[in-house]
Amino acid sequence: MTSALFSPIRLADLELANRIVVSPMCQYSADDGVATDWHFNHLGMLSNSGAALVVVEATGIERRGRITHGCLGLYSDDCEAALARMVAHCRRFGTAKLGIQLAHAGRKASAQRPWEGAQPLKSGDDPWETVAPSAIAFGPNWPLPREMSAADMERVCDGFVAAAKRAMRAGIDAIELHGAHGYLLHSFLSPISNKRSDEYGGSLVGRMRFPLEVAKAVRAVMPKSMPLGARITGNDWLEGGLTPADAAAFAGALRGVGVDFVCISSGGVSADARPAMVANMNVEFAEEVKRKTGIATRTVGLIATPKRAEAIVAAGKADMVALARAMLDNPHWGWHAAKVLGADVARPKQYQRAAPNLWAGATFQD
Ligand SMILES: Cc1cc2nc3c(=O)[nH]c(=O)nc-3n(C[C@H](O)[C@H](O)[C@H](O)COP(=O)(O)O)c2cc1C
Repeated sequence: MTSALFSPIRLADLELANRIVVSPMCQYSADDGVATDWHFNHLGMLSNSGAALVVVEATGIERRGRITHGCLGLYSDDCEAALARMVAHCRRFGTAKLGIQLAHAGRKASAQRPWEGAQPLKSGDDPWETVAPSAIAFGPNWPLPREMSAADMERVCDGFVAAAKRAMRAGIDAIELHGAHGYLLHSFLSPISNKRSDEYGGSLVGRMRFPLEVAKAVRAVMPKSMPLGARITGNDWLEGGLTPADAAAFAGALRGVGVDFVCISSGGVSADARPAMVANMNVEFAEEVKRKTGIATRTVGLIATPKRAEAIVAAGKADMVALARAMLDNPHWGWHAAKVLGADVARPKQYQRAAPNLWAGATFQD
């Protein structure tokens, strides 16, 4: 049996051994943007999950672009130095390539960590002013963000570029822009959150302008050999919001400015959005994007089992799959998937004796 999931794929000049990606997952455990021991533990572990690529969590390109006080950032020399140490750690002990998701939380910034309630920070908790395309709050309890000026947009665009340079110096293999889940770039694209009357609002062309400027500026400082991707929304799950057709138009435009791959997610643009939380929830949106644009396409969302992941890639609905919660639940998910699908997967030499062919004859007592 030949597994589609375990076939290699190339993004720009980056060779990935299989189509499994560890989805970016905020850990809310950084110290003023700087990675801590927790990140070494978390990313070191997932570097040995069998996934060919691990994407480091949403990483704020400026201090105010973090979601919470605990979010990772890449806006200082300390942030960069810790990231470089972490990349070296994962390379030394793990088998995966490493990407990073560069992000700005926009109007969803200045929030509590999930285990503190995930609500906006209260006055005693050192909250900060949030920025957005328009002065529209994320939800009823959320503060009004400040509408971004041209100078704000320039600063944020420069911030993405500076963070990309830091990520490259730190040794990262791929960069991914966060253009989903209601954060800043998504909020520019969506008609739900962008009501601007200048050239950065209005039609889809206007609403795409700022995210495309960011993608173009980041691409310009990266070597062609290094993949640049974007996570985008396949569906706002709201009347009048973004649709899969918009996602395809945006993905096509991203491809036009040199973006190598997209990851199709959905939801999060407003507190009212109600995504359909079902297995493979974004696969059909990814399929539409891939069919219409031809860009390398990843998808995510309740994929969870090896057979489901295999079926998506084998049917050509997406080129790669990302998994988040299933990887936390089972950090060797890729090893177990290889066993189910009869494929080979890289393991560190210290753990090679766990390969199924080396203990196939063994029995275990109850
Ligand atoms: C703990 C946790 C943190 C997350 N942080 C991020 C993030 O930093 N960036 C992002 O794009 N998505 C983030 N997500 C969403 C996941 O990447 C993924 O899209 C979502 O969980 C659906 O995939 P799953 O069903 O495999 O968990 C996070 C999810 C979890 C569970």
